[in-house]
Amino acid sequence: MDTGTLNAVTWTIPNALCLIGSRSGEEWNGMTQSWVTQVSMEPVMIAIAVDRKAVTNRLIRGGGAFSVNLWDRTDTRIFRSFSKPATRDGSTLNGRPVREGITGVPIFDEAVAWLECRLVQTVEFVTHDLFLGEVVDAGFREGGRDVPVARMEDTRMKYGGVRRGGH
Ligand SMILES: Cc1cc2nc3c(=O)[nH]c(=O)nc-3n(C[C@H](O)[C@H](O)[C@H](O)COP(=O)(O)O)c2cc1C
Repeated sequence: MDTGTLNAVTWTIPNALCLIGSRSGEEWNGMTQSWVTQVSMEPVMIAIAVDRKAVTNRLIRGGGAFSVNLWDRTDTRIFRSFSKPATRDGSTLNGRPVREGITGVPIFDEAVAWLECRLVQTVEFVTHDLFLGEVVDAGFREGGRDVPVARMEDTRMKYGGVRRGGH
């Protein structure tokens, strides 16, 4: 199998683009994420795959929860700033206001829609871990139901395919 073709094919998979909120103790983070999907209706379960080297991976394991924050598709610049560990200053991450969900994870006030998940199961791979989380809370910001959310195709960024240097 040609890896160039495999990359190109995996990049055609339509994905959302969102921010994952995580927390372990006083360490909080937000991270740009494209691999996210619902995987069960009863209970309602969300799966995300997170790089094993990411700060977020350690925080989800430590805190046992994560939030999925869907974003206004006209504001995709935010995804660049959250593709490295975020700076926390009080109730902000990279200057964006957050609040604590019922599990304690940060949820972004500006998120158009959000899900809060309690970690139920982890499936380990070489590069990433698949985190399976049960939804414990969800909502929209005011007026959020009418706002189209960001997708991978709204940016020129790519994620996926075969492992490269930094993956
Ligand atoms: C467009 C885009 C999509 C991404 N999607 C994912 C993803 O689904 N899973 C993942 O582990 N990292 C993904 N990343 C990479 C992380 O955002 C990046 O590795 C981050 O530095 C790791 O987060 P940390 O702050 O928790 O260390 C993506 C990056 C970009 C730019």
